[in-house]
Amino acid sequence: MSSATGFTIPSRYASQHFLSVEDLPNDAVLAIVERGRAFKAGARPRLGPDRVAINMFFEDSTRTMTSFQMAEHRLGMKVLDFDPKHSSVTKGESLYDSVRTVDAIGADVAVIRHSRNAYYDQLLAPGRLELSLVNAGDGSGQHPSQCMLDLMTIAEEFGHFDDLTIAISGDIAHSRVARSDAQILNRLGARVIFTGPREWMDHEVTRLGEISTLEEVIEDVDVAMMLRVQHERFDAGPDFSAEDYLHAYGLTDDRAARMRPDAIIMHPAPVNRGTEISSKLVEAPQSRIFTQMHNGVMVRMAILESVLDAAEQA
Ligand code: CP
Repeated sequence: MSSATGFTIPSRYASQHFLSVEDLPNDAVLAIVERGRAFKAGARPRLGPDRVAINMFFEDSTRTMTSFQMAEHRLGMKVLDFDPKHSSVTKGESLYDSVRTVDAIGADVAVIRHSRNAYYDQLLAPGRLELSLVNAGDGSGQHPSQCMLDLMTIAEEFGHFDDLTIAISGDIAHSRVARSDAQILNRLGARVIFTGPREWMDHEVTRLGEISTLEEVIEDVDVAMMLRVQHERFDAGPDFSAEDYLHAYGLTDDRAARMRPDAIIMHPAPVNRGTEISSKLVEAPQSRIFTQMHNGVMVRMAILESVLDAAEQA
């Protein structure tokens, strides 16, 4: 992988929307990562004036929402607020009608998080939208901007993806991060190993790698990517204590001590400290959890710049 430069996304791949990593060829993925690295190194945005973004989060968020806001500000965009809890959504307005409205009032891009998988299919089908859609997470479907920041963090650390061993550990079935990351890491030549409770494995994701236990693979991994146990997506709530889960499936201090000296710890956050990862490891020297958050701003600048470029050229 080249160093951070002003690398641009090849125009044949440029798309007005950023919805799923499934749509993204490897070249486009690497171009976003490189552009994110270029922003981190101080590159200036190539965006016309007066571009307007609106962030529509129908599911709660700390990182994704604030880092899209920060990315928009750094790109010099104007940012509109949209809070579903204080909008006509409470009167029954559909997602389509909300998005059609913000399109009509002149937003250039809508960044949307929604609990419904592939919510964007329904928005794009009528073919009437002029604005760009950026998916900030759909149910247990995709989290493509998280995937880009994870890749950027791995690229900064190792400079390549092929031949890396990456354990994705925990609540695989509910994880849009696992779904997006495994797809791209597998395509880029990494060895992906899934660990966690067997009943939380989802073949649609685990077919992209191997299944093992963290205990077995911890000494081999370059990256231990821990996933949050998504309590809110369980019908009855998981049937275990935090301590039991950490001991059986999580990254304990003992397991972390067995990692290779150059291996890193990642987690998309929010973190259940003491469940999937020992609390003190969140800020340990081998943790890149806060670097991931910082890199999130950079790749989100790259994503917004790319969709707005493509919309302008369409
Ligand atoms: N990683 C992530 O998506 O975090 P938030 O839910 O806080 O946005």
